[in-house]
Amino acid sequence: MIRPILHYPDPRLRQAAEPVAQVDDDVRKLVDDMAETMYAAPGVGLAAPQIGEGKRIFIMDVAKEDEPSDLRVFINPEIVERHGEIAWEEGCLSFPGAREEITRAERIRVRALDRDGKTFEMVFEGLAAVAVQHENDHLDGKLMIDHLSLIRRRLLHREMSKIAASKRRETKDDVAAE
Ligand code: NI
Repeated sequence: MIRPILHYPDPRLRQAAEPVAQVDDDVRKLVDDMAETMYAAPGVGLAAPQIGEGKRIFIMDVAKEDEPSDLRVFINPEIVERHGEIAWEEGCLSFPGAREEITRAERIRVRALDRDGKTFEMVFEGLAAVAVQHENDHLDGKLMIDHLSLIRRRLLHREMSKIAASKRRETKDDVAAE
């Protein structure tokens, strides 16, 4: 099921997510919804808090258009090593239309549970490393805007608040028209 994606400045995006106690069918159902939602958007990553689920889960698929899909599921992830630096122009499904250059670690090692509840450890580089760090931030209520300079932060906040306000007006008009 495709779920609605929360947009900044929705306060639910700021809440730290809770660890998953057990990877069961409910968790797998949530992962399936997340995948459907991410591919429909389309996006290369999605964290559970972005659909209002306060659980430490994110998914990503950074396969290129001409490559087969490569869905990866991270439950209770932990970044255990970070090396180097890379600047990448990032987007986020919770910041529609925004692109911002952000500097993060170039190579990371992650430990997490997969959709079967099995622990795995993997090294990621470049775009995949950036995506993992971006999505992992969401689990702590941290957003791409927090990585920007004060001026960029203010501009992006204003832009997103404007979009959110006009969406609220549209919804109100829809309700009034009924
Ligand atoms: Ni994001």
